[in-house]
Amino acid sequence: MSVAPAFLSGQFEQHFGGSATPALYRAPGRTNLIGEHTDYCLGFVLPIALELACYTAAAPAGDGLLRIYSANVGETREIPVEGILNAEPRRDWSDYVVGVAREIARLGYALRGRDLLIHSTVPAGAGLSSSAALEVSCALALLDGQPIQPLDLALLCQRAEREFVGMPCGIMDQYVSVFAQEGAAVKIDCRSLESAIVPLPAGLAILAVNSMVKHELSGSAYRDRVRECGEAVAALQTRYPEVKSLRDVTPAQLDAAAAAVPEVPYRRARHVTTENARVEAFEEASRRGDLKAMGELLVASHRSLQHDYEVSCEELDFLVDSALAVDGVIGARMTGGGFGGCTVNLVRPAAVDAFRAALTARYRERYGREPEFYECKPSRGAGKL
Ligand code: GLA
Repeated sequence: MSVAPAFLSGQFEQHFGGSATPALYRAPGRTNLIGEHTDYCLGFVLPIALELACYTAAAPAGDGLLRIYSANVGETREIPVEGILNAEPRRDWSDYVVGVAREIARLGYALRGRDLLIHSTVPAGAGLSSSAALEVSCALALLDGQPIQPLDLALLCQRAEREFVGMPCGIMDQYVSVFAQEGAAVKIDCRSLESAIVPLPAGLAILAVNSMVKHELSGSAYRDRVRECGEAVAALQTRYPEVKSLRDVTPAQLDAAAAAVPEVPYRRARHVTTENARVEAFEEASRRGDLKAMGELLVASHRSLQHDYEVSCEELDFLVDSALAVDGVIGARMTGGGFGGCTVNLVRPAAVDAFRAALTARYRERYGREPEFYECKPSRGAGKL
């Protein structure tokens, strides 16, 4: 699953020619186990980093240009380093890289001309955080060894996405891409920005299943959800003036203030507050090896995203319901932003083959296409190769 350094160097040389030996960087995508749409409400999330990752090969260029080549798209974007602060988004893949370069310059790091070759194995649009993997691997390539705190690296990439790409995302994807550790999940407290490594029980296969659809409304719906959570906070402040985000509210407090919160923001807030509680319960269940409780929490998370938060879609619901009908499946739910992309499934290792066969057959019969499967082995965070 990982890409060999020699292959990347070869690709770089083939594309850019020349004698420079490129430096190589890797940043992983992620699957979120639980804690969905809670990060921008400063709540808890529990993702794992994937072996699927974005690789960047980079070498200095003498002409003051950033020359960014995506081997996945087969396109190059060139931009002079000098004009980086005035760069305008182009609404394509290259904005993630230019946005990161702009943040690096804004923070006062040295930014020099470079040739960059990008090769990602994280499928785009699958909800596995191909964007954060791209941002983090390119940030490392552009910083070129200048010291940076890991948290500052994650925040820099998040800011690039929020301010240049225009996506008001939370911190989960960039954070886990930087901080992940092999073999374990990372529980992130998105308010304190501290994290804990959470061991996962043995006897557990984690599979992401790609619905192969990405519905158009995902970007605008994400913004709507961020806004609706803000409306819930404003309404709750009339009862609880100390509340700054939905993280500060318990499900019981929300219940007690139900009359003060309009219907839609109330349901959004009910998802976020109960989801935060589910992350804590899932962490405890994982630490004591309670697979049954972990599975039930995943399903409860999915139902909450489906009915209260309304970010699932027909295909994801179908994949979850089909998974739950297979013997040996411990739990399943949508993962990532929603409206398509992937589900995450906890499966007993002996049942993995039957699980794949059953979902492939059912999905093909219903939607005329085959889902893709990714075995998720928790991998390490970003770094130089
Ligand atoms: C996207 C965002 C994350 C997070 C998830 C939903 O992946 O980038 O910050 O909000 O959606 O949990």
